[in-house]
Amino acid sequence: MPRFSQPYQILTFLMDIDSLLQKWRYNHVMLVQRMLGSKQGTGGSSGYLYLRTTVSDRYKVFIDLFNLSTWLIPRVYIPKLSKKMVRTLSHHSSLNANFDN
Ligand code: HEM
Repeated sequence: MPRFSQPYQILTFLMDIDSLLQKWRYNHVMLVQRMLGSKQGTGGSSGYLYLRTTVSDRYKVFIDLFNLSTWLIPRVYIPKLSKKMVRTLSHHSSLNANFDN
């Protein structure tokens, strides 16, 4: 429904940020292994070994949003919306909605 479109897009963009960060982390890990090997970092960490552990769900900021997909309800099980609900949800902004009838 149009009303849900903007929130949906925002949630999707938040997940995009996490995905892109993870991709950057992976590329950086590969770069570090290539440049320094696997034994030491540049700032006191174990370098490659430390960075490799950061390419994981533990470092996703919006992990809850990813996990939400598990709970999506198949469309056939969603109850039919009342006419009033359909009308309300067909607007983008609550400013345009007509709650009187
Ligand atoms: C040859 C190039 C590079 C090498 C060898 C390298 C090496 C490393 C190493 C070993 C670490 C782990 C922390 C430490 O021991 O200091 C690290 C962390 C980091 N590097 Fe690089 N790096 C390179 C390029 C870059 C570039 C181009 C960027 C950003 C544009 C970058 C951003 C970061 C960030 C943000 C961290 C912290 C990651 C975290 O703790 O989760 N590095 N880098």
